[in-house]
Amino acid sequence: MDSLSLLSPYLFSYKGRNFTVQEGLKPKDLDALQHVDVRPSDIYMVTYPKSGTIWMQQILVKITDAVYPHQEEDATNRLRFPWLEGRVVDSFQGERPDPRLCRTHLPPDMLPIGVKAKRVKVVYVMRNPKDVLVSLYHFSHSWKMLETPKSFEAFFQDFMDGKAFMGSWFDHVREYQNEKDKMDVHYVKYEDMLKDLRGEVVKLCDFLGKDLTDEAIDHVVEMSTFQNMKTNPKANYKDLVEKERYSSPTMRKGAAGDWKNFFTVAQNEYFDRVFEEKMSDLPLSFTWEIKQ
Ligand code: A3P
Repeated sequence: MDSLSLLSPYLFSYKGRNFTVQEGLKPKDLDALQHVDVRPSDIYMVTYPKSGTIWMQQILVKITDAVYPHQEEDATNRLRFPWLEGRVVDSFQGERPDPRLCRTHLPPDMLPIGVKAKRVKVVYVMRNPKDVLVSLYHFSHSWKMLETPKSFEAFFQDFMDGKAFMGSWFDHVREYQNEKDKMDVHYVKYEDMLKDLRGEVVKLCDFLGKDLTDEAIDHVVEMSTFQNMKTNPKANYKDLVEKERYSSPTMRKGAAGDWKNFFTVAQNEYFDRVFEEKMSDLPLSFTWEIKQ
């Protein structure tokens, strides 16, 4: 049996990333994912956790439904758009119609080799990391696979030190920025979707080469608002709350700037220093707050 490099009873580290012990994946299983069958028509969505995964999942499912209406299914997005490295509640491989949708949190060097080799379309969603931290803090209370944080202070430090689930946000974003020319990747920012969802859906359709009518785009947008997803059990992972995998809903606040309710002045100054040190050479800007 592989011995795991444990960070805690809940997380182990492999190739600089942190995975849940209970999900049951071992290093050899993670390595095997590099050889997953990939088709050029597949669409991969990549996120650091809590950056807007289920939101983009819903958008991509609805775009696909608009283009291939005969393939619309009465199934949850989780099943239609499986999680590559998830195991406990989902089975990844299985017969899915093209274009197959796949979501993952893996860094670029752990993706299936075919993603680059076959120039698969990759959608990378990023969110301002202060809100990612707060969202992941709450999620760590909800998801049974993760250890309940001892305090916000302790969780804050773990996140900054790359000891949270999936490791360092800073590395994840940097590594995918470095892939710009090696992958067919489209970057989307969570806050840009909050500001102009329709505009982002239009850009996404252009990237995917999917030609939707104005009405179809309106429908995608309507189906993907926070309010509509909150009441749509196919989109909001309510089944995982019912199965007691989550103890609270994933659709929590859906805002930009919630970190202001959690960070102390000192934490914020420290965060800004680290952010500047690690990210200032990248051509990236984030929206830290949107006033309601
Ligand atoms: P909060 O915890 O800040 O509310 P992920 O899907 O990557 O796990 O991210 C979950 C976060 O995305 C949660 O953030 C959730 O509320 C937010 N989210 C999900 N759907 C959304 C939508 N339609 N509009 C805005 N935010 C959404």
